[in-house]
Amino acid sequence: MHAWGLNNTREASKEHWAAEQEVVGPGLQAVMLWSELCVESADGAVLTDLDGNRVLDFQGAGGVNSVGHANPRFTRALADELTTAPVGAFGSGARRDMAESLRDFVPEPLDRVQLYSGGTEAVEAGLRLAKSVTGKTEFLSFWGGFHGKTLGSLALTVGARTGLGPLPPGNFSTPYANCYRCPFKLTAPSCGFACVEQARETVRQNSTGDLAAIVVEPVQGRSGNVVPPEGYLKALKEVAEEFDALLFVDEMMTGFGRTGETFAFVRDEVTPDIVTVGKGMGGGYPVTGVLSSAGHMAARPFSDPSASSSSFGAFPMACRAVGTVVDIIVEERLVDHARKVGGELLDALIPLVDEAPLVGDVRGAGLAIGIELVADKETREPVSKAVLRETFMALLDAGVLTMTGGNTLRLYPPLTIGEDQAREAADIIVRTLTGGSR
Ligand SMILES: Cc1ncc(COP(=O)(O)O)c(C=O)c1O
Repeated sequence: MHAWGLNNTREASKEHWAAEQEVVGPGLQAVMLWSELCVESADGAVLTDLDGNRVLDFQGAGGVNSVGHANPRFTRALADELTTAPVGAFGSGARRDMAESLRDFVPEPLDRVQLYSGGTEAVEAGLRLAKSVTGKTEFLSFWGGFHGKTLGSLALTVGARTGLGPLPPGNFSTPYANCYRCPFKLTAPSCGFACVEQARETVRQNSTGDLAAIVVEPVQGRSGNVVPPEGYLKALKEVAEEFDALLFVDEMMTGFGRTGETFAFVRDEVTPDIVTVGKGMGGGYPVTGVLSSAGHMAARPFSDPSASSSSFGAFPMACRAVGTVVDIIVEERLVDHARKVGGELLDALIPLVDEAPLVGDVRGAGLAIGIELVADKETREPVSKAVLRETFMALLDAGVLTMTGGNTLRLYPPLTIGEDQAREAADIIVRTLTGGSR
């Protein structure tokens, strides 16, 4: 039996955290500020803090931790690269290896990748690409969506913009297929995708005839890993085509195996025009990208020399990280593994809807799982921030570090997690959320 949880005093961590806070800005994620976790070592899905407490990391930096902390193959590849890599986006062995690995992994016709180092930067590049391809400037995005915090992406990100206006014009938003909180009070599939019809109507009512793209997460991460019904992306693609616009799928959180598919859009058998990727793609190395077809990427001004580059895009270290992550995912069959273990985790957690007083909904796709907490199961009123924090801390205390988003606990274990460890985490979560009654 492992002794998971905050069993030791946290004196060393407290002293360390306080020393850092004398210099570090306030912009850390809420869960980091709540947990004040100071990590001494990390291995796979396990974090050990400065006081020797061991926790199962189901936060995974929101899906960044794809191949496990300190994965030996990954760290060796990056360490080797570091000893020789020049600074700059030169042709390199790492870039060629990455190109070959990606060629087989990314579905047709997305045969071009442009690399960046932050998620919002890739989304901004995707918006510029959509404008270049269509010659149009408007975007449709979704309630509860998250695409970043720079000006263009912030205009697509509802809920993080208070006090930051004015935002660029030509951005409209419409309800997502969040069935637990359907604004039309309907049920899928009998609703006939009323939210998609609403998306169509939102464009009709707001657009000046200049819609460049519909920008959508295939699973809404920050809203609590909200999984839309099958066929949603396909229906949105039809709407995009009706307006002669592109389908831009933001797979920052979902891509590279997270949802039990190589990319989440594969489930819907749809071909997006633009896909943004990041997080798990680099296994912890800060690298993101835009995927599209050669035809789209040739559009100007996107394809003009220097028009789409960035200081750190496609440096050898970034390319080595991506190539190695893809090779690990493929050779260790982590996409299938994520589907299997994610399915088992979900099966273990779904009964919480009946058994745990605060759990209103449990949903997931592969190893992206959401446990939505409500104050009242009838009205579905979200729990307060204080209750969310208490629940998060109770789980951490018992040995499972989670992520939050709105009033939802989000789980992102590494794709490499063993079935035993996933079961242990599920047991801890069930025990904690049911107050020990199961
Ligand atoms: C779907 C999605 N797009 C974009 C971003 C922005 O990424 P970054 O925080 O690296 O700018 C995120 C970050 O969580 C995300 O989940």
